[in-house]
Amino acid sequence: MKKIGLIYSFNTNKTSLAARKITEDFGDDKVESVNAETITEKEFLSFDNLILGVPTWFDGELPNYWDEFVPALEDLDLKGKTIAIFGNGNQKGYPENFLDAVGIMGNLVESRGAKLVGFTPVKGYLFESSQAVRGDHFAGLALDFENQGTQVNSRIRKWVEQLKGEFK
Ligand SMILES: Cc1cc2nc3c(=O)[nH]c(=O)nc-3n(C[C@H](O)[C@H](O)[C@H](O)COP(=O)(O)O)c2cc1C
Repeated sequence: MKKIGLIYSFNTNKTSLAARKITEDFGDDKVESVNAETITEKEFLSFDNLILGVPTWFDGELPNYWDEFVPALEDLDLKGKTIAIFGNGNQKGYPENFLDAVGIMGNLVESRGAKLVGFTPVKGYLFESSQAVRGDHFAGLALDFENQGTQVNSRIRKWVEQLKGEFK
């Protein structure tokens, strides 16, 4: 498996916690973390396997730091890239927009030619609507620290095992 680029904001609490756990579960030597707040197009393109940490903010939107990189992403050729997305959301607080940002980012990278992997079942979550849903799966890993905090580590462990088979 080629080295994985793990892109997330280093200035977050929960997203950073999840990213550290993902790194631990893959093994430190398999993952290189890059701060989403300062990443360049060249750095992004230097990885063939990528994991993006994309929490949902502002009632169904991307956080500012991802929003700022979107114009660059819209111009990138992502053919040959395999991308998995994890997202933090709050299904009780924002049931109509649960994890929307994962769907927004997933659609974007797919439209640029990337292969999206790491889908997980919606079973076990309670919400009304989400742009991240495709059939009976999320287009990534859904983490809800606020309402299902005790499941975060086991969900990550399982997801990492899945990704070991999906990354090249
Ligand atoms: C102002 C605000 C808006 C939010 N909007 C959403 C939302 O639309 N959908 C959702 O699933 N979670 C939403 N959340 C919950 C966050 O995604 C959740 O708290 C997450 O753990 C934040 O992760 P971070 O601190 O690593 O950025 C919102 C939180 C806040 C404070």
